[in-house]
Amino acid sequence: MRLGVCYFPEHWPSEEWERDVEAMADAGLEYVRMAEFSWGVLEPERGEFNFEWLDEAIELIGDHGMQVVLCTPTATPPKWLVDERPSIRQEEPDGTVREHGSRRHYCFNSEAYREETTRIVERVTERYANSPHVAGWQTDNEFGCHRTIRCYCDDCADAFRMWLADRYDDVDQLNEAWGNRFWSQQYSSFEEVDPPGPTPAEHHPSRLLAYARFSSDSVVDYNRLHADLIRDANPDWFVTHNFMGRFPTLNAYDVSDDLDLVSWDSYPTGFVQDRFADEASPDQLRAGDPDQVGMDHDLYRSALDRPFWVMEQQPGDVNWPPHCPQPGEGAMRLWAHHAAAHGADAVLYFRWRRCLEGQEQYHAGLRKADGSPDRGYTDATQTSGEFDTLGETDHVDAPVAVVFDYDSLWALDAQPHAPDFDYWALQEAFYRAVRGHGVQVDVVPPTANLSGYEAVVAPALHLVTDSLSERLTDYATAGGELLFGPRTGVKDAENKLRPASQPGPLADLVGATVDQHESLPRRLEAAVRPVDESDVDDDSIIPFRTWAEWLDPDAAETQYEYDMDGPADGRSAVVTNAVGDGHVTYCGVWPESALAETLAADLLDRAGVRRAERLPNGVRIGYRGGHTWVTNFTGDHLRLPGIDAESLVVDDTDRDAIDIGAAGGEIDADAHCVVVGPYGVAVVEGDHVDGLQVAEQ
Ligand code: GLA
Repeated sequence: MRLGVCYFPEHWPSEEWERDVEAMADAGLEYVRMAEFSWGVLEPERGEFNFEWLDEAIELIGDHGMQVVLCTPTATPPKWLVDERPSIRQEEPDGTVREHGSRRHYCFNSEAYREETTRIVERVTERYANSPHVAGWQTDNEFGCHRTIRCYCDDCADAFRMWLADRYDDVDQLNEAWGNRFWSQQYSSFEEVDPPGPTPAEHHPSRLLAYARFSSDSVVDYNRLHADLIRDANPDWFVTHNFMGRFPTLNAYDVSDDLDLVSWDSYPTGFVQDRFADEASPDQLRAGDPDQVGMDHDLYRSALDRPFWVMEQQPGDVNWPPHCPQPGEGAMRLWAHHAAAHGADAVLYFRWRRCLEGQEQYHAGLRKADGSPDRGYTDATQTSGEFDTLGETDHVDAPVAVVFDYDSLWALDAQPHAPDFDYWALQEAFYRAVRGHGVQVDVVPPTANLSGYEAVVAPALHLVTDSLSERLTDYATAGGELLFGPRTGVKDAENKLRPASQPGPLADLVGATVDQHESLPRRLEAAVRPVDESDVDDDSIIPFRTWAEWLDPDAAETQYEYDMDGPADGRSAVVTNAVGDGHVTYCGVWPESALAETLAADLLDRAGVRRAERLPNGVRIGYRGGHTWVTNFTGDHLRLPGIDAESLVVDDTDRDAIDIGAAGGEIDADAHCVVVGPYGVAVVEGDHVDGLQVAEQ
């Protein structure tokens, strides 16, 4: 595992660069990423290039034993280019132009911008094709940030029509596939099909899904242009892109097909405010949520099933969430170790130094605005030493897969049927339950080969094709353990309902069908009870939220039934079906944590997956390459009884100071156990997944 930093030499007098680079090397940093927003400095006017500053910075970094990751600088086309070629700009659905004056103001389908992209990328990659210090390239920066995956300009309209003509034999097939007789939405030619603009009522769900797919595909094509140009200049460079956290409009799996390395940008205390189902707790405001961040780690790691990087790691307080609390003491170290436990091979902090100018003056760096060390620099320095101690390590080998399907996300986003039905949040509910047992998880697309996993979880696999149904059936028949979540098997590939009852082609596999569904506001009591509890008491009444499907079991056996006012009472809510050597459980509700954790434990036990007893919220473990990481996202001290201090490789308390007695019970002065401090980390030799107990202070 390596550490690094994102650096903007162009923001500072060159006289300060050597001091900066020395301090980077002193902290044990090994990678420096640069130039993603530098087009205006590199080419202040068309054809006039100014590379000397970047040449010097690259040489300085290389001379101090570090490697450089450069970026194609297309996220911020300069004003002179926008004025010369205004058609490159994006447009809102109502035609409003997304102007120059911030960033990401270009359209992925603009032929003019693809020409300009080719020109600048060829120039910058050619410049450094033989540099010994450039290890690889990041394409652009965060495709789609600031809601820019979907554009509604004329270039996109033309490209969308061509995309449709490639996908459907003729417009009659499109009308049939979408079901356009409804509300007289037929088209007589592809040319008639527009991007979904402003309309009195909601859009046709098949057209929305098509535009979501087209928009994501447009970025795949644009990224491929960068990747091809980079490789033409030097095939030895790696090509990466820095994706975003919990980002719903770009299919990262598809983009990753053209990458050598996947990376993403992690800002834990921001994510629990602007993209989180619940209200963040005080601990989450200080350190984020380990499962929200962990799911992104596992999705991006699984995209190429290779090590991945965190290309931007929060370095301290940031500027863009609603509130910007200082992270807890040690949080910047915690985040780097948490990333390492999830398989990251490098973690680069964003940014080196708090910037004096522009939109991000309220964003910390590892150094303060005056250049002195900030809180993150201390954490980074400690962590790089600990990474050195840990040495080389293997990849994560996860026994469980969670199936994540962007098509299902986009289809449910078109018809959520409840204001709080959020596909990603439902995924997290199941993901969190598995991680809460200390089990590593891959987050994979529906096309993934599932045969190597002991257990598979597929929440809301909403669009199911016959071929996917066959693969899932083969998986269970061969002994796999499957857990489906609600709204699975509802739609065909074009976002139309199937004539057969849900779960459609999965009905035989599930051993039940769905009789009714309902979405429930929080003010309606929603609970299930296990059917095997003869003395059903209040303890076994388990709440759920938002969504309920009334199941009609056929071959499957009911595990839970509804226990609530209303017509669902007594109907089946969760069923399990024995299939060949495996089992399939279908959960027809959005489970709250108690139900999700029970279903996860049952799944893992049936699959024979080693697991910890349920870990405290905010405490997560990860096993990778011979070490078990214990990461504490809470402000409490944790005790790890049964862990011998001698097996500690990394801990955050002085071992001589470990005098907290055995977990639970009275503190026994003679007993010693490992203590993990607030927002702290312990890394222990060996695989302690099922032996680890965690006691809160
Ligand atoms: C994103 C961008 C960076 C910067 C950070 C701020 O990750 O990639 O350029 O704006 O957010 O946190």
